[in-house]
Amino acid sequence: MSNQVRPVTADGIEEFDNALPRWWVWLFKFTVLFAVVYMAWGHVFGGESIQQEYVREVAASEKFAELPDNEGHENHHGHESDESAALLAAMGDQKSIAAGKDVYTTNCSPCHGSGGEGTVGPNLTDKFWIHGGKPGQIERTISDGVLEKGMPAWKPILGEEKVRQLVAYVITLKGSNPQNPKAPQGNPEP
Ligand code: HEC
Repeated sequence: MSNQVRPVTADGIEEFDNALPRWWVWLFKFTVLFAVVYMAWGHVFGGESIQQEYVREVAASEKFAELPDNEGHENHHGHESDESAALLAAMGDQKSIAAGKDVYTTNCSPCHGSGGEGTVGPNLTDKFWIHGGKPGQIERTISDGVLEKGMPAWKPILGEEKVRQLVAYVITLKGSNPQNPKAPQGNPEP
């Protein structure tokens, strides 16, 4: 800053070639460093992407919108299936399906069979559903259970994410033709 010099003249325009203020230079260096760190975090070290952030926020807002709902959650029949963004994201996602399979084997196979063929609980591999076979309907059945019929409510036990993983896995069982299938219950669905 001290080297105040004579103006430089170019094409008749005079300008000083003063040193930039130190704070400005540091600010500039900081932005460059910040960009490098931010890019590494976002693209290399698994920071949350904007897609993931979007899915998380939509799920949060839908959870909020669901809270006091005058239909209540008792009526499982005839409910429009309402798939949340988070549920849709889990559908077909290999990680979710694999995680769902683990959770299923531990918690569900005693009543639904290791291959979903049905024992105490209904067959989950056929196209017959008592409470609806759309992802949103299956999510609701697993979350809230059917207590009077012996199907526990799993959301309080496993949490929402594991329930979504279970839905992702259960959907893959459809049409898998396991051994010793239990007779169909409920209504056929396409
Ligand atoms: C204690 C036994 C039991 C366990 C454990 C159990 N279920 Fe069930 N489940 C049932 C019964 C019984 C029904 C049938 C309810 C009815 O008749 O309305 C059922 C119904 C269901 C349905 C609806 C099927 C339809 O036709 O609509 C789904 C989906 C389901 N269970 C998934 C699961 C999952 C996933 C788990 C593990 C987290 C699980 N169940 C654990 C007993 C059980």
